[in-house]
Amino acid sequence: MESGRAAVIKKFATKSHQLTTDDVFLTAGGSMALWASMNLLSGKGDNYLFPSPGFPLSLTIAQSMNLTPKLYHLQADNNWQADISEMEKLIDEKTKFVLVNDPSNPLGSVWSAEHKREIIELCIRKKIPLIADEIYEEMSYGTHAPTFAELIKPDEVDKITVFKCSGLTKRYLAPGWRMGWAIIYGSKQAQ
Ligand SMILES: Cc1ncc(COP(=O)(O)O)c(C=O)c1O
Repeated sequence: MESGRAAVIKKFATKSHQLTTDDVFLTAGGSMALWASMNLLSGKGDNYLFPSPGFPLSLTIAQSMNLTPKLYHLQADNNWQADISEMEKLIDEKTKFVLVNDPSNPLGSVWSAEHKREIIELCIRKKIPLIADEIYEEMSYGTHAPTFAELIKPDEVDKITVFKCSGLTKRYLAPGWRMGWAIIYGSKQAQ
């Protein structure tokens, strides 16, 4: 599977990150990429930030690991963006990651680069890894913003960890292919 991992890093390398094949997990679909990322970052009794409304399977996956979701609300009157101050207040010592999903299922919304930067800065400030479910990144109605990893500046690479979860299923409209990946960008300290 080395060639598969090499193909993933070739496509998803960014200007700021030097990836190696050790930074990639190949998984049975995007769902397993979420499962693997959550499993690496947290354990029983921990909590995480989850968007509301969000993709229910992510809640179920986290529930199977006894993780507690803390819901941050996406605002209908503000392009379904999150309220950063609400997110900040929800984070406590048991919060092990922030989950984002952009473009969003179920909303179909696409966040701006500026809003993604606000979330990156929050994660850096609070020293919390980000799990970015970007499985719909190529379905953004012509409004594509850079991905979370692409928005990390070179001097931030050691200050934040991003698990990008994605796969072939939506990209090629092929749900039966069950091929996904998680890519770990940035600091490995969180692991
Ligand atoms: C937001 C989101 N993330 C992840 C997945 C999981 O994708 P896969 O079918 O590759 O497991 C889906 C599937 O519907 C999804 O909508």
